[in-house]
Amino acid sequence: MSNLAKRIYWFLLPVAEPLFALRCCLQLIARSGLVAGLRMFRQLPPGPFRPIDEALRTDQHTLLALAAKHGPIFKCNWRGERVVMIVGFERALDAFQSCPHELRSTYKSTEHLFPNGHLRALHGDMHHHYRQIILRGLRSGLIPVHEAALRADVQRCFLKLHALHPSHNVNTLELINALRGLTTRMLLRVFLGIDPDSPKGKALRDGYDALTPGLAPAFGYQRQNPAFEHLIALVTTEVSRLQQDLQSIEVSVLQRLIAEQNLEPTTRGILVYMLETGRFDLYSLFRWMLYYLAKHPPAAHLITHAGSLRSSAGATAARAFVHETLRLNQSEAIQRRIDDDHQYAGYSIPSQSQLQVCLWETHKDPAVFAQPFEFNPSRFINATHSLDRFAPFGVDEHRCAAAEYVIDLARLFVEEAVASWSVAIFQDAAPVRGNYHWEPD
Ligand code: HEM
Repeated sequence: MSNLAKRIYWFLLPVAEPLFALRCCLQLIARSGLVAGLRMFRQLPPGPFRPIDEALRTDQHTLLALAAKHGPIFKCNWRGERVVMIVGFERALDAFQSCPHELRSTYKSTEHLFPNGHLRALHGDMHHHYRQIILRGLRSGLIPVHEAALRADVQRCFLKLHALHPSHNVNTLELINALRGLTTRMLLRVFLGIDPDSPKGKALRDGYDALTPGLAPAFGYQRQNPAFEHLIALVTTEVSRLQQDLQSIEVSVLQRLIAEQNLEPTTRGILVYMLETGRFDLYSLFRWMLYYLAKHPPAAHLITHAGSLRSSAGATAARAFVHETLRLNQSEAIQRRIDDDHQYAGYSIPSQSQLQVCLWETHKDPAVFAQPFEFNPSRFINATHSLDRFAPFGVDEHRCAAAEYVIDLARLFVEEAVASWSVAIFQDAAPVRGNYHWEPD
């Protein structure tokens, strides 16, 4: 050994033991990290690693097929995200409740539009606070006040479509525009108490159309939006007017919120924004209802013959028609992001994964709904389906705040449709994937 090497040896000798100990520690950390990583990897739910975007765009049965192969909890790679899919409402609720503090709604960003953003994106105490206010505003009782006008709105929509093409051949875009106009009118009446034909109503209708120049609401708002600000200004003027002259008869959600002194900027923003997504969800449901009316004339007869039309038996049949449409189609997505690593049902769910409740797929369970792909509204007549079997409006504390209103407005729509019109499909095609939902083509 050269002199230099000997000197280095004697120099390092006193620190050799601590160095050795450090090396062992590092090895241990690396190994246990690797072991933990491997364990987590092995415990991931089953499911493909390859992206399934294309399959989901083209085949509505993709997730059902994956559930049949991998079981009711499986993972997939969708829109560049790791998504854990859950089929079954009880299971989904159980999964959500197993990690309530780590879950966040993945709803689009709306906090640039108004303080705190939309109810659907909030969580925890803040969500609870605003949800209670909105639910109070939405308690039942408003439909009867507007019923005659709402029915007239539906008739007017059909008359308009008929006038466009007396031969009855309306194309998809014309139909969407007419239905979107209809649902905007309906929601303006019930939620804001504004006659859609008044100058204020016209300004609001134009305002909402300016907010969504395309057919479906934007995926999110990364900055302030002039069209939304204009809508807020219009509603604020109406608020000032109502504050001067508050009637005792309840006519709208807006008026209730003012009377209960609950209309601060967040509640006002939620109300104004709710109409934007609400009119889209509602007209998408109406499209499917027209599709099933055309495809299943016996179901329409059930509504007209269940009793005299618009009687309570007729309404029961109409409500069953709405429920069956929601079961068979028009499914919302329920998605949450998880903030921390989590174990559920023996699986590891890594932080930042998404959990998605498969609504459409759960509604196709043959053990709950016999012949699940058949349109059969009578399964909802004289039958109650608990939330663990039928949940088109959601499963947890974010359940649709307007569910009761949706059913009532859709019931009026189908009653008026079968009373005066017949609907036919002149070019049948398979459903297509729209921006948010599957749609009839
Ligand atoms: C076909 C029509 C509709 C369907 C199927 C539907 C479905 C749903 C679903 C599944 C949720 C829960 C989302 C989640 O858990 O993340 C939800 C939430 C919500 N919906 Fe609807 N909806 C419809 C129409 C409407 C309308 C017309 C309005 C109001 C104008 C509305 C207002 C809301 C609100 C405010 C929430 C959020 C509730 C919360 O986070 O506490 N929805 N909806």
